Amino acid sequence: MSTTTTALHAPTIDELDAEERLSRAEVEALQLERLQWTVAHAYANVPLYTAKFDAAGVHPRDIRTLADVAKLPFTTKADLRETYPFGMFAVPMDQVARIHASSGTTGRPTVVGYTKRDLENWGNLVARSLRASGVRAGMKVHNAYGYGLFTGGLGAHAGIEALGATVIPMSGGQTARQVQLIRDFEPDVIMCTPSYLLTIADAMEAAGIDPRSTSLKVAVLGAEPWTNEMRHELERRLNIDALDIYGLSEVMGPGVGNECLETKDGPHIWEDHFLPEIIDGESGERLADGEMGELVFTSLTKEAFPVIRYRTRDLTRLLPGTARPGMRRIEKITGRNDDMIILRGVNLFPTQIEELVLGIETLTPHFILELTRSGRMDALTVRIERHPDLDIEICQAATVVLTQRIKTHIGSSVEVQLEEPGTLPRSEGKLQRVYDLRG
Ligand code: DLL
Repeated sequence: MSTTTTALHAPTIDELDAEERLSRAEVEALQLERLQWTVAHAYANVPLYTAKFDAAGVHPRDIRTLADVAKLPFTTKADLRETYPFGMFAVPMDQVARIHASSGTTGRPTVVGYTKRDLENWGNLVARSLRASGVRAGMKVHNAYGYGLFTGGLGAHAGIEALGATVIPMSGGQTARQVQLIRDFEPDVIMCTPSYLLTIADAMEAAGIDPRSTSLKVAVLGAEPWTNEMRHELERRLNIDALDIYGLSEVMGPGVGNECLETKDGPHIWEDHFLPEIIDGESGERLADGEMGELVFTSLTKEAFPVIRYRTRDLTRLLPGTARPGMRRIEKITGRNDDMIILRGVNLFPTQIEELVLGIETLTPHFILELTRSGRMDALTVRIERHPDLDIEICQAATVVLTQRIKTHIGSSVEVQLEEPGTLPRSEGKLQRVYDLRG
């Protein structure tokens, strides 16, 4: 018996939140009002903001238009580390209903807090994101984002509940069990990182289950950069629609923006709650919509942890809204400042290699990038698992093609090395693609 009750469809106008129906001018008017509140709130209650605004000679009353946001100083991860753990909270601790933290790769974790109202807004924005992805009340959602201090698990969880769907709080890891429960509970939706969905699809095949035959109809994927090629690969392998959910702990968590099922053209930013900007990462200069640069956010409604011009280090462009004309989109994020590899003067992002790998049918999507140094020269090796069902000669020929394409499209000479199937580490959450062995 199939327990599926609801088919996948984009929300009708009546199903949208009132804010999603606002015109661009109405969104901007709401943003200005909320920006003025946020800036005053941060200035009055967070000593770091008071000091930074004073040093920059700017006062909350100077914010008269949306463009005035550019007068405000940036906030960086270093500011969050300096005030560890609770120095950036703008409300007394007894009003903080929840804390999350992100581990980061070095030093202290960054800690964020939420009031009850912040949690409610967050749940509603994830519910909005799910609705945009085609998810409905009555559907079952298998949530494989990690539960705990990471915002993915609990953030998605609250949104699924707020939507009125059924949540299966699986968390990450235990891949064989994930496969079993997908088969037994027949969820309509899966939420996890794109790289983990690939791991799950492989595990299904290993268990003799055709990944195209499960109950899954849609995947809401994020928490790491991924390409449209990866989307197509996952959609084809699992016979699903794959949608992009964007967010970061400092700004809220998952659900800062989400793609719409009807267009799949990069996440719409939920601009009633967040003001995005693009800046030149080096000069800090504000860039026009359409130009590529670093994404910066100012929160507009957050009580416990307002952020002013927070530098995400994510690289993208702001584009006009399509399915939600009042809200701007970002181009799908395929690179972060932190991920950029500089190889003998050529800048390269791991997702550029992902794109090329997925364009060659005789290769698998399982690869890692190893950076080494011999003498004063840096070298990059792409270690990639060979296709288990193809002759070794065909796999070897594919590596030659990949080497050539990397040379032509990116301009770098790399070595491509074939590995045996199943020997490279598999993602269980955020994938580590690059291994820097330069010492
Ligand atoms: O990863 C929040 C999240 C959870 C988003 C689940 C989506 C789904 P952090 O751990 O703070 O928070 O990491 C945030 O992950 O700055 C991006 O670099 C990257 N990222 C998140 N979503 C996407 C996405 C969560 N859809 C950092 N595409 C961000 C590309 C993404 N990168």
